[in-house]
Amino acid sequence: MHVRTSNVVTIERHILDQERQNPEATGQFSRLLYQIAYASKVINREVRRAGLIDILGGTGDTNVQGEAVQKLDIIAQETINDAFDHIGVLCCMTSEEVDDIISIPPQFDLGKYTLAFDPLDGSSNIAANVNIGTIFSVHRKITTGREGKEEDLLQKGRGQVMAGYVMYGSSTMMVYTTGKGVYGFTLEPSIGEFLLSHPDIRIPQRGSIFSCNMGNYRFWSEGVRKYVDDLTAVDAERGRPYSSRYIGSLVADFHRTLLYGGIFMYPMDYKDPKKPKGKLRMLYEASPMAMITEQAGGLATNGRDNILDVQPKSLHERTPLFIGSREEVAEAGRYIEQYG
Ligand code: AHG
Ligand code: MN
Ligand code: MN
Repeated sequence: MHVRTSNVVTIERHILDQERQNPEATGQFSRLLYQIAYASKVINREVRRAGLIDILGGTGDTNVQGEAVQKLDIIAQETINDAFDHIGVLCCMTSEEVDDIISIPPQFDLGKYTLAFDPLDGSSNIAANVNIGTIFSVHRKITTGREGKEEDLLQKGRGQVMAGYVMYGSSTMMVYTTGKGVYGFTLEPSIGEFLLSHPDIRIPQRGSIFSCNMGNYRFWSEGVRKYVDDLTAVDAERGRPYSSRYIGSLVADFHRTLLYGGIFMYPMDYKDPKKPKGKLRMLYEASPMAMITEQAGGLATNGRDNILDVQPKSLHERTPLFIGSREEVAEAGRYIEQYG
């Protein structure tokens, strides 16, 4: 039976509709969003066939984070770099996989936006065929002169004009916000289009799931440990114990938290003196997820301050992250305030 498709909204139509609502739109922003959708489809294709064309496994290198680089990390990195360096929309980029600022090659036009991205999030899960993703964050250029500088990238998360992620899971989804709500699109592989499947994502004010790497429990501060003890107490009246869910890919753990509610935590841990502020990176993990969460009615902190109000000082700086339903994230903050 032929399904009528007049009410199907493709991401392209959604981007155009949003552009029409913005009188001073120049089309640069729309162009940026199109390219994000395009790059995501290319990465999706590589992810779906990774096990078949010998691109699983590591390259034998380590990145600026000191982590083993997976072949798919590099493929995703190059796909995004090549999708954005020539379209005249960006003045510079930064990526988890590249130590320094990524300048736009001189032969290409410069634009008024910056792009920070985690080309492949959850790399340790690739070989196990567990959900992985890509995370994007866009700011407007704020410095004078045509070239992008680090200051253009080192902006507080509240200044983001777009934040989004793509999750390569049982289906491929793209979720993004431009400050007017959170929209979810599901890839229809037979036509290669992202179709609007979640028109206005809102996070529950309270959930019943907590998500963190319990293997680090003994390395957390007293406040964090006391909060986790509270979540796992036997107290039906207060909805305890919560369920524990942890995938180990931020995009997957975050997406479930966004849809189901509850809290995802990656606290600072005293296990690794090289990572006193926790593992997750501010510019291309915590900050974009924090914008999406706040747009969906939730909250994201570093345990004390709202993530979106923290001034980043370096491209790959890390931050503790408590993100999800407003009530749980606030509760975690009270335990940290009282016990440290
Ligand atoms: P990436 O693969 O981009 O380095 O990110 C991995 C991150 C994040 O996806 C996840 O939440 C976290 O690492 C899991 O860390 P642990 O394995 O230490 O729990
Ligand atoms: Mn990551
Ligand atoms: Mn990554």
